[in-house]
Amino acid sequence: MLLEVEKIDTYYGIFQAIFQVSLELDKGEVVCLLGRNGAGKTTALTSIIGLNRPRSGCIKYKSLEITGKKPFQIVRLGIGFIPEDRALKKTWS
Ligand SMILES: Nc1ncnc2c1ncn2[C@@H]1O[C@H](COP(=O)(O)OP(=O)(O)OP(=O)(O)O)[C@@H](O)[C@H]1O
Ligand SMILES: [Mg+2]
Repeated sequence: MLLEVEKIDTYYGIFQAIFQVSLELDKGEVVCLLGRNGAGKTTALTSIIGLNRPRSGCIKYKSLEITGKKPFQIVRLGIGFIPEDRALKKTWS
């Protein structure tokens, strides 16, 4: 298994955003995470890439535990993330 996410819980302060999320991804597979607005899709992904640290559960990449590692350590292992809202924008007038 390439990526194993096992029962992760992630919070923003005292607010629990995801509950016991598990998924598995094998080499060559495409996995789609579906849910209504606010269901926790982005939080699940930011938990995998280390931007949010799950309070419990376990994430393994190529059998190596990456739960709680820093984003730069995780990206060096080969996990990339393309967010939905990072277009290059002109912010001056
Ligand atoms: N930075 C944050 N601080 C506090 N609460 C947050 C934060 N980011 C997300 N949340 C809350 O966590 C829950 C999950 O949000 P998340 O953005 O992961 O959902 P989503 O499935 O990606 O939604 P969308 O379909 O709108 O992208 C929501 O209740 C949201 O309000
Ligand atoms: Mg989202």
